[in-house]
Amino acid sequence: MLEFTLNGDKAQVDVPGDTPLLWVLREELGLTGTKFGCGLAQCGACTVHMNGDAIRACVMPVSGVANQKITTIEGIMADELHPVQKAWVKHRVPQCGYCQSGQIMQAVSLLEKNKKIDMDELISGMNGNICRCGTYNKIRLALRDAAKEMGRV
Ligand code: FES
Ligand code: FES
Repeated sequence: MLEFTLNGDKAQVDVPGDTPLLWVLREELGLTGTKFGCGLAQCGACTVHMNGDAIRACVMPVSGVANQKITTIEGIMADELHPVQKAWVKHRVPQCGYCQSGQIMQAVSLLEKNKKIDMDELISGMNGNICRCGTYNKIRLALRDAAKEMGRV
């Protein structure tokens, strides 16, 4: 039995240790907000946080998260939307939406970890998150708003 903290609660799963975290989240634990895009750590659709750092759940064996703190898109909102989510809504960023939970998780990690970050760093920190719908301009607008709201720029 493997145990880790998931969105603040204890999670236990009985699966082979080499099962990708992505499939444990989606198939075993029913959290389908985290998406499968490439399975090769190339697109960012499966981005979640481990102890606050953005990781690619498609290539992380679940044994690697034992006793660690995992946060998914379902867990970043407290009493209200996270400032990144608010900015995404304001700018109507998603088109098909498939990449967007990964985009948001990457942005939240960058903005939570860095007390100050300039826009170039922030945008380059998002380079590994691919959007087939090409929402990059809206993502940049939303990033700017979220960074201002969080006092990061
Ligand atoms: S599905 Fe994990 S990076 Fe593409
Ligand atoms: S919104 Fe469709 S892939 Fe990004």
